[in-house]
Amino acid sequence: TIKGKDLWLRMTETSNYKGIVLAGGAGSRLYPLTKVISKQLLPIYNRPMIYYPLSILINAKIKDILIITTPEDQENFKKLLGDGSQWGVKLNYSVQEKPEGIAQSLIIADKWLKSNPVVLILGDNLFFGPNLFSKIGKAINENVGATIFGYHVDDPERYGVLELDAGNNVLSIVEKPDNPASNWIATGLYIYDSNASGYARNLKKSDRGELEITELNNVYLRNNDLKAMLFDKEFSWLDTGTHETLLEASNFVKDIEEKSDRKVADLLIL
Ligand code: DAU
Repeated sequence: TIKGKDLWLRMTETSNYKGIVLAGGAGSRLYPLTKVISKQLLPIYNRPMIYYPLSILINAKIKDILIITTPEDQENFKKLLGDGSQWGVKLNYSVQEKPEGIAQSLIIADKWLKSNPVVLILGDNLFFGPNLFSKIGKAINENVGATIFGYHVDDPERYGVLELDAGNNVLSIVEKPDNPASNWIATGLYIYDSNASGYARNLKKSDRGELEITELNNVYLRNNDLKAMLFDKEFSWLDTGTHETLLEASNFVKDIEEKSDRKVADLLIL
C-alpha cells in the first residue's frame, strides 16, 4: 500500500497539469531598474527572480511549462532558462504584446494547453514554507474547478481581497478595494481546470484596461467551483513589486540560506 507523501509523489507524476509563468508587464513601479531589464530577471539575492516561481512549478512535478514574457525580453529568458532539459522539464515560450491583464495569459496559452488543466504563477511571486511543494501538489490533485491560495497581509487594499465565511469558504473576491472585507488576499498562484481559457475569453476589460484574474476567479466562484487554500503564519509570501519589498525579498532569502541548509528556490531538489 502507498501512503502519505508517497501517494502524492505517485499521483502528481501522472498529472496532466501544465504550467504557466507569467513574466511580462512593464515593471513601471521599479523604474529605472526595469527600463532595460525585465523585472522578473532582477536578482533576488543570488538568483534571478523567475527562478523562484519556476521552481514551484517544477517541484510540483509539472513537466510542461510556458514562460510568457514581453516581446523585447523573450530572448533573455531563453538565454537564461533554455529548454528546461537541465531540470527535466520542457520550457516553451510565448509573448504578451501588451500588459492587458493576468487573465490574458490563459488566452495566449489556450492553443498550447490543448484543453489540459493548468497551474498559473506570477513571475514575481515568492513562496516559502514547510512542505510547500507537497501542499501545492495535493491542491493540484484535489482541484475541481479552480483553487486559489490566500495569505494574510497588513495592506490588503493593494491586492485581490477575499471575503471568507466561518468555514473559510470564499464569499467574494474584490480587486484592490477601498474597504477590504478581510486581511486575506489572493496570491499569484492559481490552479484551473480546462475551462479557464474559455472563461478568460469572455471577460471584459476592467477600468484599468486589464483582463482581471480576480474576475476570472469570480466566474469560478459564481459556478460554485472555487476553493481557497489559506497559507498559515508558518508560510511566507513575498511580493516583489516595490523597491522596499524587492530588497526585503533578497534579505529574506539570504537569511534563510544562512540559517539553514535549505535553498529557497533549489531547483536541484528535483
Ligand atoms: O501578486 C498578487 C496580486 O497580483 C493579486 O492579489 C491580484 O489580485 C492581482 O490582480 C495581481 O495584482 P497586481 O494588479 O498588483 O499585479 P501586477 O500588475 O503587479 O502584475 C503582477 C505580475 O504579473 C507582474 O510581475 C507583471 C505580470 N503581468 C501583469 C499584467 C497585468 C504580466 O506579465 N502581464 C500583465 O498584463
